[in-house]
Amino acid sequence: MSHDLVVIGSGPGGYVCAIKAAQLGLKVAVVEKWPTLGGTCLNIGCIPSKALLHASEMFEAAGHSFATFGIRVGKPELDLKAMLGHKDSVVESNVSGVAYLFKKNRIDIVHGTGSVAGPGRVSVAKADGATEVLEAKAIVIATGSDSAPLRGIETDEKRIVTSTGALALPEVPKRLLVVGAGVIGLELGSVWRRLGSEVTVVEFLDRILPGLDGEVARQAQRILQKQGFAFRLSQKVTVIDQSGPALKVTVEPAAGGTSEVIETDVVLVAIGRRPYTAGLGLKEAGVALDERGRVKVDAHFQTNVPGIYAIGDVIAGPMLAHKAEEEGVALAEILAGEAGHVDYGLIPSVVYTHPEIASVGRTEEELKAAGTEYRVGKFPFSANGRARAMAEKDGFVKVLADAATDRVLGVHIVGPYAGELIAEACVLMTFAGAAEDLGRICHAHPTLSESVKEAALAAWTKPIHL
Ligand code: FAD
Ligand code: NAI
Repeated sequence: MSHDLVVIGSGPGGYVCAIKAAQLGLKVAVVEKWPTLGGTCLNIGCIPSKALLHASEMFEAAGHSFATFGIRVGKPELDLKAMLGHKDSVVESNVSGVAYLFKKNRIDIVHGTGSVAGPGRVSVAKADGATEVLEAKAIVIATGSDSAPLRGIETDEKRIVTSTGALALPEVPKRLLVVGAGVIGLELGSVWRRLGSEVTVVEFLDRILPGLDGEVARQAQRILQKQGFAFRLSQKVTVIDQSGPALKVTVEPAAGGTSEVIETDVVLVAIGRRPYTAGLGLKEAGVALDERGRVKVDAHFQTNVPGIYAIGDVIAGPMLAHKAEEEGVALAEILAGEAGHVDYGLIPSVVYTHPEIASVGRTEEELKAAGTEYRVGKFPFSANGRARAMAEKDGFVKVLADAATDRVLGVHIVGPYAGELIAEACVLMTFAGAAEDLGRICHAHPTLSESVKEAALAAWTKPIHL
């Protein structure tokens, strides 16, 4: 079979690239080794985790916050099987949605493990042992990433799990020890804490959520601690003894020193993800990787081998579904002879804890390091009428604006629906808007978004309601 484009991997990078390319008139095939489409994000990542985060948040609200609103209910009872069933059905409807879109756009799906067999040739090893060779003018590597292992510790997805096992625990562990205070640790830690686990997070660094604005991360840590999270910062896990009914985890200071043993029932290893390039034939094809094992690409997503491209988690940049999608669209446009572009300075990031944490643009730490003069405007949700009505007073919005030009350089939010609120900051910053622009835009009252406006007012001049 001959195609304009063969994409290896059907995650958000690959499937979006395929759809956009087909929309632009290219003949496209996608090779996928898993039985369902959608990659990590739809099958074992973004979608199932958000289904469980929402369900567990409702469980906790029923047990703890309904009374605040004058709603008396009995103690809610957990039906974990049904909750996991809800998650599975959400995954199913999303992955079948991608299959529907492929059909609609006349994209060929080839199930099997793809590898580069030479210029313009992709070999697909099928489950029945057969091999099919596809010919293509362009090959796109969109094979994503998998969990980074903790040195010397094997995961079994039962007692020592990655995010995949943590999305499907058959019962609520009494104690859960999370290694890594990053996005996965805090999101999936939140799920199981809400359902009843005692959660301890061991983090190598002296802070949670590295990369996010420090002030926002500190506030998030305080809120999560109030919810019951126990953090052990600047510590590392060295050994896990699995011989008894409880896991015995040896933890020691990151800088070395006296170790101690913590007992737990389940360990979630969430120390990052690594690009997935195994078995792709990249070495044989002469495709260069960078020092961290990621496929190296130029500004047009082309590798050092003409005709072979790569996008998503397998290349440099934040490992986020929407980043992979934007790259997929840009690459399809480039391959169709149009101008495709991704603004890497404006990729939002959201942590779906309660409250949510969202951020776009520069952090204070980055501005300081770059020597940029900036102004800070902050507004707490405790001063927002809608947040008070919702009993969601924790957190704040922080707007960072250039001291000389007033251009907004970063927006950081910890608070209710932060993941939705950040979108207007992305729009504003895409058009190089100023704090004054945001502060002068009429925001509906009473909405949470008024806090974003007020923070912008605080950066430009003065907030009204503080
Ligand atoms: P992937 O989605 O990893 O897809 C790669 C695909 O390639 C897979 O289907 C794989 O089977 C296939 N493949 C690999 N090798 C071959 C081969 N040789 N032949 C054929 N097929 C192959 N990001 C967000 O933005 N928001 C979130 O809320 C979020 N939540 C997450 C929660 C969890 C628990 C995890 C693990 C990740 C989460 N992410 C989230 C990250 C997000 O899932 C990834 O950034 C995204 O899936 C990357 O997309 P991709 O297309 O590059 O690769
Ligand atoms: P992460 O990079 O977010 O966090 C890993 C954490 O583990 C860091 O704080 C790091 O300092 C720490 N760490 C590393 N080695 C350690 C060790 N040996 N001992 C203790 N701590 C250690 O990675 P995570 O949480 O695994 O998630 C992987 C990726 O998946 C994220 O980077 C993100 O791109 C993506 N993701 C995105 C989500 C979202 O957008 N809401 C949700 C979940 C995942």
